[in-house]
Amino acid sequence: MLELKKLYFTVQGSDDGNNGPRNIIDGLDFTFEKGKFYVVTGPNGSGKTTLAKLIMGINPVTGGSIHFEGKDISNLSITERAKTGIAYSFQQPARFKGITFRDLLSIATGVTDEKKILEMVTRVGICPMSFLDKEVDTTLSGGEIKKIELATTIAANPKLAIYDEPDTGIDLWTIGPMVKLLKKELTPHTTTIVVSHNRAFLDVADVIIILKKGRIVYTGDLQNALPLLTDLSICAYHERCEGERDAGCLR
Ligand SMILES: Nc1ncnc2c1ncn2[C@@H]1O[C@H](COP(=O)(O)OP(=O)(O)OP(=O)(O)O)[C@@H](O)[C@H]1O
Ligand SMILES: [Mg+2]
Repeated sequence: MLELKKLYFTVQGSDDGNNGPRNIIDGLDFTFEKGKFYVVTGPNGSGKTTLAKLIMGINPVTGGSIHFEGKDISNLSITERAKTGIAYSFQQPARFKGITFRDLLSIATGVTDEKKILEMVTRVGICPMSFLDKEVDTTLSGGEIKKIELATTIAANPKLAIYDEPDTGIDLWTIGPMVKLLKKELTPHTTTIVVSHNRAFLDVADVIIILKKGRIVYTGDLQNALPLLTDLSICAYHERCEGERDAGCLR
């Protein structure tokens, strides 16, 4: 349902200080199948968020193409992609002064009916009384804003849902139900891509994708992924600091 064909995101200025091009996403070929639950993981800086943003159209494709349900969407805007059924949850959600959670839900879904809005919010485990009329501004806690963002994405009822680190700042009591919710509510109707380092998501993935320096170095189940997930040499910066680990590398 979603196909990446020789996908590149290239910027000027490589990370070793020279001004040449740098492939942050480096020629990815991959097909996501309908209704499956994918978890994309990999070291910090390996290109996970960049890949998610390429699929949503937040980053421009600089090489190759993205196909959704057989159609080339590489040049479609974010809005056009949203209309085709793709929804995206940011790693760091935006905050809007003067806009309430109720407003956000209405914008995302087109629904204004009070009863339907209450149903949507209750479904994702958020207390409507305490959240619905809160402003989505800087007064919300990190976890609260992530829950609201998640609810808005789910409420859009997308064909393809992309969540970038949905568990960031979420309390221990919510992570289990959140994983269950994303698995149960969305699949098999929705294809889900979760970017995460969290074992709770890795445990329930149909397919785990490990990125390293903008390339897919593994696709498959958790069992076979485990040796790679504990392999220090997969560190994105490894080549640069090889031999200097004792001098302070945390990996
Ligand atoms: N528009 C851009 N221009 C230049 N460099 C960029 C751009 N976007 C991302 N990068 C760089 O590309 C690399 C990958 O960034 P990305 O945010 O995709 O990493 P990530 O895998 O999501 O990391 P994390 O686990 O920390 O969230 C980083 O080194 C980042 O600084
Ligand atoms: Mg990221």
